[in-house]
Amino acid sequence: MAVVGIIPAGGSGERLGADRPKAFVVCAGRPLIEWSLEALGSLCDRVVIAAPPGYDEGPDRVRGAESRSASVRNAVEAVDAGEADIFVVHDAARPLVTRDLVQRCLDAIEPGIDGAIAAIPMTDTVKEVAPDGRVLKTLDRSTLWAVQTPQVFRADILRRALERDAAALAAATDDAWLVDDAGGVITVVESYPENLKVTRESDLRIAEALLAH
Ligand code: CTP
Ligand code: MG
Repeated sequence: MAVVGIIPAGGSGERLGADRPKAFVVCAGRPLIEWSLEALGSLCDRVVIAAPPGYDEGPDRVRGAESRSASVRNAVEAVDAGEADIFVVHDAARPLVTRDLVQRCLDAIEPGIDGAIAAIPMTDTVKEVAPDGRVLKTLDRSTLWAVQTPQVFRADILRRALERDAAALAAATDDAWLVDDAGGVITVVESYPENLKVTRESDLRIAEALLAH
């Protein structure tokens, strides 16, 4: 089966506040995106990166878009129909992904399963809170998982799921949401908390410390 990697790296990294887009900030000696490229590279026939203006030249690079999902769509559209059976979508912002985690997501695509997503069982208690700060209710933690990337999908259903208008793409915080909306069956693959998303400066420091080991 042909596997193509998609790395959304088209964000500006506003919350990190660095002098360049987040995916290209140096972390433990290399640009953040290189860690993800290394983990995906050996398992994928090709990896397409959606990058910000100024970083989008060259082979297998496309221009990112106004939302994360729109960036994913730009990258998916750069891949010919029939060239991919499976897409592995992984955020440039998660440098602690491992080849093993990607492989376990790929292995989870069985008959009847359209998507497999890395996730961890919630360890914090989660509450629903009103805009004024009043606690409305406590959710049943035993059924809640915090979702990460990689997210692996059958190529045809991901393509179909991304055929949405800009507002729907902007509202989706992950691709599995869109695939679920399109009728796909998604399963979770247990990940590890170290696979954190670099969002703020403190995350960059934690990632740097973990990658140094
Ligand atoms: N991303 C993208 N295109 C966008 C927005 C985000 O490809 N229009 C990518 C980011 O580059 C990142 C991943 O999606 O690899 C997750 O997004 P996030 O962590 O929110 O990164 P940024 O949007 O860059 O950060 P911020 O929200 O702080 O600006
Ligand atoms: Mg963002």
